[in-house]
Amino acid sequence: MMPPEQETTATTSTATSIQPGNIPAANWSENALVHAEPSGTSTRSLSIDVSTCFEDDQMPDQLQDQANAHRFSILHQSLRPITLKFEDVAYTIKLQTNKGSCLAPHEPKPTRTVLNGVSGVVRPGELLAMLGPSGSGKTTLLTALAGRLPSKISGVITYNGQPFSSSMKRKTGFVTQDDVLYPHLTVLETLTYVAMLRLPKQLSKQEKMEQAEIIIRDLGLSRCRNSIVGGTLLRGVSGGERKRVSIGQEMVVNPSLLLLDEPTSGLDSTTAQRIVATLRGLARGGRTVITTIHQPSSRLYRMFDKVVVLSDGCPIYSGHAGGVMEYFASIGYVPGFDFVNPADFLLDLANGIAPDVKQDEQVEFHGRLDHHGDHNSTKQSLIASYKKNLYPALKADIHRNLTDPVLSTSGILSSRGCENRWTTSWWEQFKVLLRRGLKERKHESYSGLKIFQVMSVSILSGLLWWKSDTSRIQDQVGLLFFFSIFWGFFPLFSAIFAFPLERPMLIKERSSGMYRLSSYYFARMAGDLPMELVLPTIFVTVTYWMGGLKPSLLTFVLTLLIILFNVLVSQGLGLALGAILMDVKQATTLSSVTMLVFLLAGGYYIQHIPSFMAWLKYISFSHYCYKLLVGVQYSANEVYACGVGRECRVMDFSAIQFLGLDHKWWDVAALTVMLVGYRVLAYLALRMGH
Ligand SMILES: Nc1ncnc2c1ncn2[C@@H]1O[C@H](COP(=O)(O)OP(=O)(O)OP(=O)(O)O)[C@@H](O)[C@H]1O
Ligand SMILES: [Mg+2]
Repeated sequence: MMPPEQETTATTSTATSIQPGNIPAANWSENALVHAEPSGTSTRSLSIDVSTCFEDDQMPDQLQDQANAHRFSILHQSLRPITLKFEDVAYTIKLQTNKGSCLAPHEPKPTRTVLNGVSGVVRPGELLAMLGPSGSGKTTLLTALAGRLPSKISGVITYNGQPFSSSMKRKTGFVTQDDVLYPHLTVLETLTYVAMLRLPKQLSKQEKMEQAEIIIRDLGLSRCRNSIVGGTLLRGVSGGERKRVSIGQEMVVNPSLLLLDEPTSGLDSTTAQRIVATLRGLARGGRTVITTIHQPSSRLYRMFDKVVVLSDGCPIYSGHAGGVMEYFASIGYVPGFDFVNPADFLLDLANGIAPDVKQDEQVEFHGRLDHHGDHNSTKQSLIASYKKNLYPALKADIHRNLTDPVLSTSGILSSRGCENRWTTSWWEQFKVLLRRGLKERKHESYSGLKIFQVMSVSILSGLLWWKSDTSRIQDQVGLLFFFSIFWGFFPLFSAIFAFPLERPMLIKERSSGMYRLSSYYFARMAGDLPMELVLPTIFVTVTYWMGGLKPSLLTFVLTLLIILFNVLVSQGLGLALGAILMDVKQATTLSSVTMLVFLLAGGYYIQHIPSFMAWLKYISFSHYCYKLLVGVQYSANEVYACGVGRECRVMDFSAIQFLGLDHKWWDVAALTVMLVGYRVLAYLALRMGH
């Protein structure tokens, strides 16, 4: 079912017979029902829509109008018409080969051309669709147009005549083919956090939240607004709903340029129709919208203004959607029957299937589909026709700067375009990211399994060391060493997953200029504190008193503080390894080796390490932790029962003698250097990784 506001959106946008590209940008906004329009007409129609479809959240129309007018005027300021032009875009990748790398190291790697000479123009108010078979290069082209392709492309891509810039980044919305979302957040939370981070600071928190609500209504997500998004391992909203959440994340900021990779894949035709209608509505509001699409129905196809058809990375058509059939007829390709879906026809052609030879007929007569020669020659002829017939006119259109109405405005915009790089302040970003991180990660940090793991080990070790006293000093020292090792391993192995798993999200959000890396990083560090420190606190409390360590509150508190310090250092090492390697498998392997070295060099198992290996203990944080734990547990003059009626000095006990009980501040200093050093390393690795 299409909610009333969507139906109105669709009818409004289809009813207005706008010829995109021919109308000055200022007028488009009056004609469309877009959530972010400042004009009286559109704001008015929005409030009517909202009140008719929403039972909760009742607000008198006039009040809502006033509230919306303010928000929309600010949002509208961020809307700058963008003319996107791309000319002769080509992209080649180096293929990874396993064979021959040792035998012929200097042999150049084979390459593959993914895009070859693609050109086009999209103006504000237009919706361009990219069509083509799977693997034809649609996603690659879209990513290049969004300025997010990591390697260099050849050709020219301009945005109002300028190359891609960081201010352009913030005006661009990019919906990827795969949804990258936090699984534990609800739909409403997901969109609200995006609104908080991406909307300008002139808007109040309340207004940002309302903007998220509007998007939820526009995209027909009201029914699942409080359901968790979910992911591969966690059941949440449906795939189509998740896709709409991804689209909503980009729509929330009212981008001037919106790029979407297969927004309708996996959706029923009505929902797909609704989404494309919304996109067309957004385009009509003065935005430039580009989407890739698989198998659009003829109903959908009619909503596109322009199409680019790719075949193996080469264009076979680029221009107005309405002129497709005419163009192909002019070069001798006419569909076999009258009522053919233009999209099906185009895809057949892009696959090299000429209309007079039907695929099913081929199978029927030949029992197989191996007309590669035919297909290739059809493709080649289509590419040649494109170059001969369409390319010259397209090139002229691309270079038609002066007659382009938008460019004159954009010149002014770019000259005063030194807008603040960030839409929100560092502190605001930090707060929102911290709140979001706590919400998302509390499930993993306080998962039943993790609590069970820690509690069972703590109770088991408490029982094993039950009421040990100084007469069993060997055991007690063993318990202290166990503390330092367990709370070295555990946080390390949790932390190495942090950045590799968050990487796709970080790349996505940082590519849209959502926040500073430093605010993300500090929010992550701050968010980890309560999560990572609660479990060791419980563990130490249980085991310390069960294990019969020194019954002094001060010693207990110091022991706890040392272990928490150790946890933070070990976590820092895990974060650094994760950030440097960005690969969970490699990081886990390296961490196991490192911890094993620390375990052995810690000073408990081996006391007489050969001098050429003795330096190892100085890089082991477990060694410093163990030394400090022993240092606060025993004093130099303390004695213990070392036999029947005999007392020995603690300092004479070989393990303690080896460690020494002095220079505690050096140990604290060494741990502090590691605490800061590992974190700085992790930050630098993240920064350089971008
Ligand atoms: N980094 C890469 N490494 C290897 N191959 C790549 C890379 N980038 C693109 N390709 C190849 O380039 C071709 C185009 O990829 P692209 O993802 O753009 O296709 P697509 O048209 O979006 O396909 P689909 O419709 O299936 O999403 C594919 O054959 C793909 O395998
Ligand atoms: Mg793709």
